[in-house]
Amino acid sequence: MLAGLSAPLAAVSVRSGDIVNAQIAVAITAASIVLHRPRLIVQIYHTNYTHDLIAASGVLAVNFLDQGQLPLIWELGMRSGRDSDKLEYVPYTTALTGSPLLEGCFGYLDCRVVNAMDGGDMTAFLVEALLAQTVGGERMTWRDVRPRLPQRWAEEWDRKIAGEVDVSLENMGQIEPGAWANPASTLPR
Ligand SMILES: Cc1cc2nc3c(=O)[nH]c(=O)nc-3n(C[C@H](O)[C@H](O)[C@H](O)COP(=O)(O)O)c2cc1C
Repeated sequence: MLAGLSAPLAAVSVRSGDIVNAQIAVAITAASIVLHRPRLIVQIYHTNYTHDLIAASGVLAVNFLDQGQLPLIWELGMRSGRDSDKLEYVPYTTALTGSPLLEGCFGYLDCRVVNAMDGGDMTAFLVEALLAQTVGGERMTWRDVRPRLPQRWAEEWDRKIAGEVDVSLENMGQIEPGAWANPASTLPR
């Protein structure tokens, strides 16, 4: 039932001070009916480096992937920015928040965090898009791309997700109900 709710794949990118990073995410939902105030909910797991950088900066960008960007699944989704600079060889520009806008994507949303809810193992960030751009091409979905993954990547993914399920099981009951203090409150609304 839940698998049918997944969004097109995106790279969620962030800048915090001098550090830039990006990870792959599928758990992204539209969260506004006001056309000129677009909001989304972006779910990021606590163990991800991207999580710490979003919490510290209060900003992120959602880069919806194009079908031709399969290698980014490996580069951004299977490794952590804690171990290496994942964007060293990935060309990008920046706009309002300083979050990287990766070249070749289907489109971008440059966002600031409005609020956040802790889920124990992940945080649901409510974000507002300050800038939106559709470049064009064809969006990538997990359903389309999963059968196209090289066998080594698929095996690596199965191993990684199995470990993360264990971590989630341990942590998802430990919810911090504290309020979100926005580090990016100076950005325009
Ligand atoms: C297809 C796919 C979908 C993913 N979806 C999410 C997601 O919705 N939320 C999330 O926090 N991590 C998701 N991940 C996992 C992160 O991209 C992955 O753990 C990444 O290595 C974290 O990198 P970081 O430590 O540099 O932040 C997904 C990975 C893949 C390959």
